[in-house]
Amino acid sequence: MNSKEFARRRRAIMRMMGKGSIAILPAAPVRTRNRDVEYPYRQDSDFHYLTSFDEPDAVAVLVPGRAAGEFLLFCRGSDPDRELWDGRRATPAGAVSDYGAAEAFAIDAIDDVLPGIIGQCERVYYTMGAQPDFDARLMGWINDLREAGSGDQHTPDEFVALDHLLHDLRLYKSRAEISAMKKAARISVAAHRRAIAACRPGMHEYQLEAEYLHEFRRNAVEPAYQPIVGGGANGCVLHYVKNADELRAGDLVLADVGCEYDCYAADVTRTWPVDGRFTPEQRALYDIVLAAHDAAIQQVRPGRHWNDPHDAAVQVITAGLVRVGLLKGEPQKLIADGKYRRFFMHRTGHWLGMDVHDVGDYKVSDHWRLLEPGMVLTVEPGLYIPNARNIPAQWRNIGIRIEDDVLVTRDGNEVLTAALPVAADDIEALAGSAAAD
Ligand code: GLY
Ligand code: MN
Ligand code: MN
Repeated sequence: MNSKEFARRRRAIMRMMGKGSIAILPAAPVRTRNRDVEYPYRQDSDFHYLTSFDEPDAVAVLVPGRAAGEFLLFCRGSDPDRELWDGRRATPAGAVSDYGAAEAFAIDAIDDVLPGIIGQCERVYYTMGAQPDFDARLMGWINDLREAGSGDQHTPDEFVALDHLLHDLRLYKSRAEISAMKKAARISVAAHRRAIAACRPGMHEYQLEAEYLHEFRRNAVEPAYQPIVGGGANGCVLHYVKNADELRAGDLVLADVGCEYDCYAADVTRTWPVDGRFTPEQRALYDIVLAAHDAAIQQVRPGRHWNDPHDAAVQVITAGLVRVGLLKGEPQKLIADGKYRRFFMHRTGHWLGMDVHDVGDYKVSDHWRLLEPGMVLTVEPGLYIPNARNIPAQWRNIGIRIEDDVLVTRDGNEVLTAALPVAADDIEALAGSAAAD
């Protein structure tokens, strides 16, 4: 993504903030996995959104209208000893030349520089509670200003939640963002094709996971979230990430796997028979979930509200469960009583973007938000039939989810993951179709 995109975002947020304001964003910290081992570094999404700067120990500052420059970056200075181990750092000079900062300082100088800038502003935009250590430092600077309280330095009058403004901006994807999301979708679709084609009874779930990871790494991307690959009863565990068991003929396998490209996620689920043939019960439930998926996608268009796709999916799923005998009664009453939730206990989707469960309010003033062009959401109805005595044996342990990523367009929607087969016959044709090793 080019630097103009990030400059445009900074201008947009600064227009919303207005003069007399300052926004302060700390970078994500490095997190320890165990002893000397760290988790792979992932920048905080808000920080990346405004800066494209992907190092820890950094603080971004926006001050609309500041004569000496509106975008300041504090970051690590050069340290040849550390760089010998960890690789090159951006340094303040690089922050100016490569990241568009008007001024940049060593992070060690922040106590000397930042309070003086805060002291010239009336309003501080900040996301409280995300990084308690940094919250405490900021409060320390504010207290110092209050105690000093002289000359042109004063304590800001207002603290405002930065995420309200920023997350509203992030909800509407630009052309560059949509193109990154399409790339994440393309690679994720290729990975699903590869895994579905490679699937054989007797494989383990982690071997199927490896097919996804192979496709991701050869495209220089990482999973956007922990892959879920569950055969049989494991497909009914919504966040099953152990991926440890053997895949057995006669079972379904549910794989919820998507990659992150340039900080943008895909989130994709397919469910298929391990041996390439649905049983009649699996096929009946698959077709219900697919019909719910199609009905929900029909509702994704400008003017519909956030909950319309979910309502449509619930209607189709409940009617389907009555048809096959897993629920008894009048569908509208079963919906009103929430009876379908025994088998479909999650919502039909969420916003998608830099975060898999992306930011943005689902309601505005207590009303479901209207869908508008540029918003991206998942559509992911499912059915999960528990292993319960009052359910006939042939239905038990069937877990099915079908998940696609959908962009709201001016006149409807575009399914970003549409290249991945979804009809039961197409899924059967693809399953196990790769030549054996
Ligand atoms: N992969 C997480 C979800 O589908 O929401
Ligand atoms: Mn999802
Ligand atoms: Mn998912």
